[in-house]
Amino acid sequence: MNIGIIGCGVMGELHAQLAAECGHRIVACADTSRSKADGLAKPYGAEALEDGMSLTSRPDVEVVVINTPTPTHGKFIKAAAENGKHIFCEKPLGRTAAECEEAVKAAKSAGVKLFVGHVVRYFHEFETLKGLVEAGKAGKPGFVKTYRGGMAPQGEGGWFRDVAQSGGVVFDCSIHDLDWIRYAFGEVERVFCQTVHETQPDVIDYAMVTLRLKSGVIAQVIGTWAHPSGFRVKAEICGSRGVLQFDSAETAVETHMRKTASGDAPSVIVPGSPVDKSPYLLEWEDFTKWLSGKGEPRVTPEDAVSAVRIAEAALESAKTGAPVTL
Ligand SMILES: NC(=O)c1ccc[n+]([C@@H]2O[C@H](COP(=O)([O-])OP(=O)(O)OC[C@H]3O[C@@H](n4cnc5c(N)ncnc54)[C@H](O)[C@@H]3O)[C@@H](O)[C@H]2O)c1
Repeated sequence: MNIGIIGCGVMGELHAQLAAECGHRIVACADTSRSKADGLAKPYGAEALEDGMSLTSRPDVEVVVINTPTPTHGKFIKAAAENGKHIFCEKPLGRTAAECEEAVKAAKSAGVKLFVGHVVRYFHEFETLKGLVEAGKAGKPGFVKTYRGGMAPQGEGGWFRDVAQSGGVVFDCSIHDLDWIRYAFGEVERVFCQTVHETQPDVIDYAMVTLRLKSGVIAQVIGTWAHPSGFRVKAEICGSRGVLQFDSAETAVETHMRKTASGDAPSVIVPGSPVDKSPYLLEWEDFTKWLSGKGEPRVTPEDAVSAVRIAEAALESAKTGAPVTL
């Protein structure tokens, strides 16, 4: 299908490459930074634009891929849906649950497909853990513990470090685990969160979210943007028959680092995977299958709204110091 990319930064570049790998054609690339739009459009022979909104109404675009800072997702989803385009949107679906609900409603009433990039569902380590739990290898699950993060990402103009835009480590990074825990262990009942958050002299954003699930499972989700460098992921599940665990420091998980313009530190780290097919490619294959009318995707728009709702509850809890019941 013909693809239009909005947001030509780290994820825009990756998604253009993966869409092309799945046989799609990149026809237009939009970014408020002209040089980024030009840089991404050129190798695909696509048209470069500065205005993402105008991309959503182009007759030659069939699928809009949204890779802009989180608070802008909603307006692009709504415009794309109103113009009858299918949509791939990076996670989080939006900056608030209310925005997300509106976006999902717009896609539903336009009858277009909306896929959200909750990529952890496609990481083989996490899929293996889920499969082992379902096969009863850990017995009845009691506790789940996840850990994700490293250095604080920057993004174009430093938007990741602006909590109003990214929601900080809980909303942007831990949301991967919040989604995966709900996917693997079921609905969340109650959320409690504590954070350490400083911006001077450098960003320290570290959070622990505790979830009580309807099944009685307790989950602890640690997210960090407090380290000077690197990226690490861990997961541990304790059930009545034993413990399952994964630690990226013990396996060859490569990371894809983007340098900042000054070259002094990476801007964003996109976790890689040592397996043949990257989880980001698996995500595109799933979306492509759905576009061609075969099957349902592993992530539904409602899943993405639920993830935002849990992350939003965590931020509320961090602010008030009290647990939030969903
Ligand atoms: N799934 C993952 O592993 C993963 C990893 C990193 C980021 N993300 C998500 O992907 C999205 C993009 O993150 P990124 O790392 O690519 O950020 P980035 O800063 O590298 O890129 C964002 C791009 O959007 C452009 N932009 C900003 N506002 C715009 C607008 N209104 N119209 C058009 N272009 C605009 C910026 O100029 C920039 O080039 C975010 O939602 C982020 O949370 C997901």
